[in-house]
Amino acid sequence: MWCTFLLLLVIQLVSSVPRDAVPCNANCKPPNCRCSSTVIPGGLQAKDTPQFVLLTFDDAITVNNIAYYREAFANRVNNDSCPVCATFFVSHEYTDYSLVHEMYSSGHEIALHSISHSADTQYWQSASVKQLTDEFAGERKMLETFAKIPAKHVQGLRMPFLQMAANNSFQMMRDNGFTYDCSMPTRAYVRPGLWPHTLDYKSTQDCVIGPCPTGSFPGTWVIPMITWTTRDGFPCAMVDTCLGMPNTTQELFEYFKKNFEQSYLSNKAPLGFYVHAAWFALSPVHFEAYKKFLDYLQTMKDVFLVSASTVIDWVRNPVPLAQMKDRHWSQCRKPSPVNCKPVSCELCKKEGDKYVSRWAKFCDVNCPSSYPWLENHLGSQDYSNGCKNPW
Ligand SMILES: *[C@@H]1O[C@H](CO)[C@@H](O)[C@H](O)[C@H]1NC(C)=O
Ligand SMILES: *[C@@H]1O[C@H](CO)[C@@H](O)[C@H](O)[C@H]1NC(C)=O
Ligand SMILES: *[C@@H]1O[C@H](CO)[C@@H](O)[C@H](O)[C@H]1NC(C)=O
Ligand SMILES: [Zn+2]
Repeated sequence: MWCTFLLLLVIQLVSSVPRDAVPCNANCKPPNCRCSSTVIPGGLQAKDTPQFVLLTFDDAITVNNIAYYREAFANRVNNDSCPVCATFFVSHEYTDYSLVHEMYSSGHEIALHSISHSADTQYWQSASVKQLTDEFAGERKMLETFAKIPAKHVQGLRMPFLQMAANNSFQMMRDNGFTYDCSMPTRAYVRPGLWPHTLDYKSTQDCVIGPCPTGSFPGTWVIPMITWTTRDGFPCAMVDTCLGMPNTTQELFEYFKKNFEQSYLSNKAPLGFYVHAAWFALSPVHFEAYKKFLDYLQTMKDVFLVSASTVIDWVRNPVPLAQMKDRHWSQCRKPSPVNCKPVSCELCKKEGDKYVSRWAKFCDVNCPSSYPWLENHLGSQDYSNGCKNPW
């Protein structure tokens, strides 16, 4: 029995202390390893390389923002007939899981952005592997249970506020079988841009919101957030945090285009349009310019609007542009019918010593006993002592 205990302890130690990452070398080969670099995968030239554009949205999917998503992507397909896909980094609170299911069914990718989305960046910076597991693997469990999304299709994450936690988020990813992180901006590798790479070896990427990882995390991918450049020349990682943007649809569109060209006219590193739907609500110009930009991108033969995991798949097994259409069509997830009967629940949420009420919407479940949360992913804990109906 002691033997078993010691063995378990050893396994635990081995899995929780990474090796130091050493400089990348020729042992790092695709599909499972790639050094951080601006070199195009597969030794391709830019003219033979598809330009991927990653459209992402962060935070809760709710009745307040779903209309933007429906409208922006309705009937939009890539030239290979695969749906134009966005990637949603979903946080739990206020999320309507029936709407998450709808987005997934239309072909979009659902990824993780934590359960609590705590506003305390210090919490994220010092979060332990255990806390991050609770936040991210816990949220994957919720998406599987409440939005009927297969766990294996939930592959990536973005840290709230892009706040890195040194090695710990990557250790958590390794332990739980996640594929990619899309939280690390790069200012140093914009033109040419940095391609996605693994953390088997030491990354050359600049660390913008540290502490950044220094350990070795074999097979764990980073999709660098290639920063945009404001009109005043400042870098910004999320488009909606870029200051001094123009305020007419046409000028804003030109500004998007200019940033797109930093990748497109150099090494075609996958470019992100990273934004929150709340930004669309600030001015109709924002949403008009966004749609105009998507229309523009779709006029180009070599541009593909795909989800984050599709980009990783391509970097692992690159094919030239000429073969891209067949390859992508054979692999992309096709839209499927919505298969979710929404269930609305009024639930009790414990917040420290207080109890508050939260409405939630799930697919095909009986209402849980309490509002799902950290260490209570399926809402099975019963807080009925604290919460008295009616609220
Ligand atoms: C990350 O892991 C490496 C390798 O084990 C270690 O040297 C480094 O100190 C760790 N970083 C932190 C902040 O613990
Ligand atoms: C748009 O920005 C310009 C300055 O770039 C300013 O003069 C103008 O008032 C702004 N218009 C609106 C509608 O905000
Ligand atoms: C889309 O594909 C068709 C057929 O392969 C081709 O003729 C057309 O030029 C393509 N259009 C764009 C915008 O890539
Ligand atoms: Zn967020």
